[in-house]
Amino acid sequence: MEQSAFTVPAHVALIMDGNGRWAERRGHPRWWGHVAGARTVRTVVEHCARRGVAQLTLYAFSADNWQRPTHEVETLFRLFAHHINRQSQRLARHGIRCSVIGRRDRLPLALRGAIADVERRTAAGRRLQLNVALDYSSRAAIQEAMPVHAAVRGVTRGATILPPVDLLVRTGGERRLSDFLLWECAYAELLFLDCLWPDVTAATLDAAFEDFARRDRRFGALPSRASA
Ligand code: IPE
Ligand code: IPE
Ligand code: MG
Repeated sequence: MEQSAFTVPAHVALIMDGNGRWAERRGHPRWWGHVAGARTVRTVVEHCARRGVAQLTLYAFSADNWQRPTHEVETLFRLFAHHINRQSQRLARHGIRCSVIGRRDRLPLALRGAIADVERRTAAGRRLQLNVALDYSSRAAIQEAMPVHAAVRGVTRGATILPPVDLLVRTGGERRLSDFLLWECAYAELLFLDCLWPDVTAATLDAAFEDFARRDRRFGALPSRASA
């Protein structure tokens, strides 16, 4: 494993935003940007593994993204299934364990099959835990984890509360969480980048990790150099 000169965040979360604008700026339909964005995912996953990130959580499709036109939603699901199928062997070879969080019952059958397959094939991976958030809502995940909710409604899905996020990066210029990991980001360092997701490279990630390493995380205590 390639070592880095700085402290790498253990759990990195990425809001991969800006695919549509990336395509529109080039005079292409929005789906073109999703195709380019999917290529970026592969670069980013492999770079995080190389840098020694333990857990990487990617926001691929939010529960609110169902409000988009049907053809865009269908294109996204086809792309997810295609890339999951294509990458599963490679992920397994790289020691990357892939899990999908979010609702599955509304996804197309082919995509559900691809998810079950990649989770099974990569289950032994110990180098990097990759979580892909698909049809995901953080508010729904928190609600499902509440005992009172489970008692009243009956638990239908496993709660998907993840370990705390150390660094959350959102591309695309927006400064909001859009219902992503609200609980897990309680003490996350937040980084908002203006660059669009398909333009992200390994260098973008290294710059983000360097920025993270310079931050003074206090968790409510006093700065490390403060005297009593
Ligand atoms: C993020 O890019 C990908 C998904 C939400 C699936 P967008 O599709 O939101 O791109 P912009 O924000 O419209 O540019
Ligand atoms: C957040 O991006 C969801 C994903 C990146 C998957 P959106 O583009 O859907 O978020 P809003 O609509 O700008 O808040
Ligand atoms: Mg967007």
